Parts: sequence; C-alpha cells; structure tokens
Amino acid sequence: MSLFNNSQVIGPPLKLSLKTRVTDGNSYRITVAMKLKNGIQQPGFLLALRFLALVFWSFPGARALDNGLAMTPTMGWLHWERFMCNVDCQEEPDSCISEKLFMQMAELMDSDGWKDVGYEYLCIDDCWMAPKRDSKGRLQADPKRFPGGIQGLANYVHSKGLKLGIYADVGNKTCAGFPGSFGYYDIDAKTFADWGVDLLKFDGCHCDSMEHLENGYKHMSLALNRTGRSIVYSCEWPLYMWPFRKPNYTEIRQYCNHWRNFDDVYDSWQSIKNILDWTSSNQKRIVDVAGPGGWNDPDMLVIGNFGLSWDQQVTQMALWAIMAAPLLMSNDLRHINPQAKALLQDKDVIAINQDPLGKQGYRLRKEDNIEVWERPLSDLAWAVAMVNLQEIGGPRFYTISIASLGQGMACIPDCIITQLLPVKRKLGFYQWTSDLKIQINPTGTVLLRLATN
Ligand code: GLA
Repeated sequence: MSLFNNSQVIGPPLKLSLKTRVTDGNSYRITVAMKLKNGIQQPGFLLALRFLALVFWSFPGARALDNGLAMTPTMGWLHWERFMCNVDCQEEPDSCISEKLFMQMAELMDSDGWKDVGYEYLCIDDCWMAPKRDSKGRLQADPKRFPGGIQGLANYVHSKGLKLGIYADVGNKTCAGFPGSFGYYDIDAKTFADWGVDLLKFDGCHCDSMEHLENGYKHMSLALNRTGRSIVYSCEWPLYMWPFRKPNYTEIRQYCNHWRNFDDVYDSWQSIKNILDWTSSNQKRIVDVAGPGGWNDPDMLVIGNFGLSWDQQVTQMALWAIMAAPLLMSNDLRHINPQAKALLQDKDVIAINQDPLGKQGYRLRKEDNIEVWERPLSDLAWAVAMVNLQEIGGPRFYTISIASLGQGMACIPDCIITQLLPVKRKLGFYQWTSDLKIQINPTGTVLLRLATN
C-alpha cells in the first residue's frame, strides 16, 4: 500500500521539518507544509520532498585544504599494520621494509586489478629512514634496504601508473625512533617533492607540546603547498590532541586531506569494534566536517590478513564504505585469498566509498545488538549497513521499516533495493510503507543500496 493512495485530504497539513547544522555554526530549519490530496497535491508534494532532500544534502561542508586532492577518499596500500618495523632483511628478506617489498607490491597493484578499481597510492610507513640525516640536513632512506633511494622507488612506482606515499613525524623522532621533522619542515617538504612523492603521512610522536603539534601540522601543510607538487597530506593531529583538548575539526580540515582520530588498527575484531564504537560515539563532532578534500581516517583495512573472520572482513569493508574512509589496505598482495581479494575489489562497495557527494555516513540506531548505519549518496540514493554484534547464536533476522531510513527520504514513494554484501542480489521494489526483513550473520554486516527510480 502506498502512502499516497488515499483520495481524501488526510487530516491536517503534513508538516515536514528538517533542522540541519552547517559548519559556519548556524542551524537552519526548513519546513514544507502541504495537504496530501491524491492527484492534486501529490506530484507537488513529491517534488517538494525531492527538492528538500537536494537542499538538505547540498549544504557545503567546512572549507577544505585547497590543494585539489582527495576529492574522494584516498585509496591505496600502506605497509604498517602488516609489515610494521621489520628492518631485518638478512633474516626476513621477503617481509622487511625495503624497496624490494614496495616494488613487488607496485607490480601486483598494477597487474592484479587493484589499480583498475582505484587503489592508487602505494605508501611507505615508519622505518624507511637511515638513522641520521645527511650532511645537508636532509632525510635519507636506509642505504642497504633502499639502494635506489626513494627517488628511484618513486620512478618505479610512477612507471606502473601508481603514486608513492611516504611517512614522517611532526616531532623530534618518528614513533619508531627515526629522525623527526621538527625544525626541518621546509627542508623535508622540499626533499619529498624533489623525490617525486605524492602523499605524506605525518605522525605525531615525540612532540613536546600541543603548540608544537598544532603549529607543526600547519607548517608542514603550507610547506608542502609551497613545493608546488600535488602531495596528499595525511595527518594524525586529532589523535594526539584528544588526550589534552578537543580538536577543532574545522581548522584541521583546512590543513589536512585526512586525519586519524583514534588508536591504530590491529588485525582483530576487537580493534574493528573499538574503531566503530569511537566513531559512532563521536559522530556529532566528526561526520559533518568530512567531505571532498578532507576525510576522517579510521585507519587501514586489515582484510586479507589473519585476525578477522569472513563476516568480520565484510563488516570492515561495508563500514569503511559507509564512513567515507580512506581505503588503505595493509596486507600482503603476494599472498591473499581470492575471497578477500574479491571483497576488496568489489566495485559496488567501492562506489559507495567513493560516492561523489562525499557525505560521511553515521550510525542511525543501535537496538538489541544490531546497529543500523546509513549514508546519503548522490542521486538521492542511500547506503544502509546493518551489523549484527551479537557474538552468540547463529544468523539473526532483523526487520526495519523503510520509512525510518534516510531521514524518511530514502524511498519516496518507492525504491529499488540491492544487497551488495555479503553477496550481491537484487531485493527488488519496495514502498515507503514497507518493512524490510534481513538476515545477518554474527559479527557480519548486510550492506544495501536504496535507489529511487
Ligand atoms: C603510530 C601510527 C601508526 C604507525 C606507527 C609507526 O603508531 O599511528 O599508524 O604509523 O606510528 O611507528
């Protein structure tokens, strides 16, 4: 039954009121009031709703770092979670941090379909450096592990049609104890640009004050811009700030293309749960500020490693898409099972992550260990993820009223629903008044896309 099938005026005028807060600090209330009468007001009503949705979702976010980069979340590969700080190339030549490792990954990103679906940035994390700067004060790569230097590696990576990311630290030392950039921001920015680097992950260890931390992150952003090279700037500024004071995300967005808020991801379900919990608990503060040019970064994808079950890997992929998170895999592309590879290369899920509207999703509700998350997409479509957090028992059914999704606007007057994960299947045609019954595995997620005709 459709809401709009009645031929009489239904009661008092229906009043729809939406309040939205934009990052200039003001709240705006938009109200549409009209009587529902079949045939006469109905088309106008629908048009008004669609107009309302367009207006509602088109408010500009806060001003982003003006480097034209990361208009959708960055996609690529980052070594840290899987390879950490293994510098012992004698004992472990295949997994130590060396140019060989990155060349092998670049080769595979190009040949195994990763680049084709959008994974573009091959990123070095900590432990690439020699213990000392050179005689001119420049950072240098460890000569044994990177005999061709970073410039040589950048050339190789570029020859594969990929981009190279590097790591440094705003303080006196990196987290693993290599030379920090404090006092060298301009030199380091220039060195990275000269080498042909395309992304900088800037960590926040060993910084002696909040002032140094803030000024350092800003200084490096401006220094990178001054080089004239397009370098994505990935910050950990808010993560290091939280223990002392609340970060000013509007300001952070003006300097960084993405920013870490919370602890390092581990290869475990507990870690994924912690990240999701932190994100939903802080969503009022962090969701609105994300948008083209600047994103919240919940850390790497650990899909394809050891710690997550299949359902938990589905949950990570689905929720990273909902959160508009950078998709930086940390896994071994030389040894990855076909199921994990297919999940990471799922074009429909990647399309949600990369949706050009660039609105981050949020948790809509938590009820009886089921969480419902949703994200507005371009063309008035919505992504909806339902997570089953109950770690006992089997698959559970969950029923949701379609009208409760997308601020009431996900399916007006009807829509087509496609399940994307754990497997793709068309669920069909639904009306605003319908219910949707879904089965979700323990610790798994069902990811849906709702599109109006
Ligand atoms: C910090 C960061 C990690 C990683 C390590 C490297 O812990 O949060 O992502 O870069 O440092 O030492």
